[in-house]
Amino acid sequence: MQKILVLLLGFVVVTALVISGANQALTMPEEKAEAVKVAKTPEALVVAGQKLFVAQCASCHGEGGKGDGVAAEVLDPKPRDLTDGEYVGSLTDEYMIKLLKGGGPAVEKSPLMPPLGAAMTEEQLGSVIAFVRSLSAEKPETKEAVKEQEAAKSD
Ligand code: HEC
Repeated sequence: MQKILVLLLGFVVVTALVISGANQALTMPEEKAEAVKVAKTPEALVVAGQKLFVAQCASCHGEGGKGDGVAAEVLDPKPRDLTDGEYVGSLTDEYMIKLLKGGGPAVEKSPLMPPLGAAMTEEQLGSVIAFVRSLSAEKPETKEAVKEQEAAKSD
């Protein structure tokens, strides 16, 4: 008899745990779930950055970052072509954070580049920068490797 009670109790506890676990998964806010993913992989970081970019940067820079957004026509200077790996690779993360938080004037560029990063979290800034870097075929790492090769050749 006691054995059956223990079994029954065990069953109840396990069922309760499963139900509360399922509940938690169901009620996890989407935003939170996304943040967890972002922290996990660089790919997820780029995907989150792309969402931000399309929403906040594409009107000027274009969805693909080529500097051909709908507003680009009337802008002078033109929004940068962010697929230019050589150029983007020459900008450090610190520089980009300064640019995004303070707008063009923070880095002696045009005020037409707005301080949209001021309203972003550190994580959002990191993901939008990761996306911008993903736009250029010529990644900074590639550039470094090329530089090293050249240095090796010359001596
Ligand atoms: C209202 C239009 C506009 C929006 C929106 C915009 N930009 Fe720009 N961006 C510009 C212009 C114009 C320039 C060129 C500034 C210059 O050369 O003086 C620029 C330049 C840049 C540069 C190059 C800076 C440099 O030192 O040459 C980067 C990187 C950049 N933008 C990223 C972004 C990102 C990321 C976003 C979204 C968070 C964004 N921009 C949103 C207009 C815009």
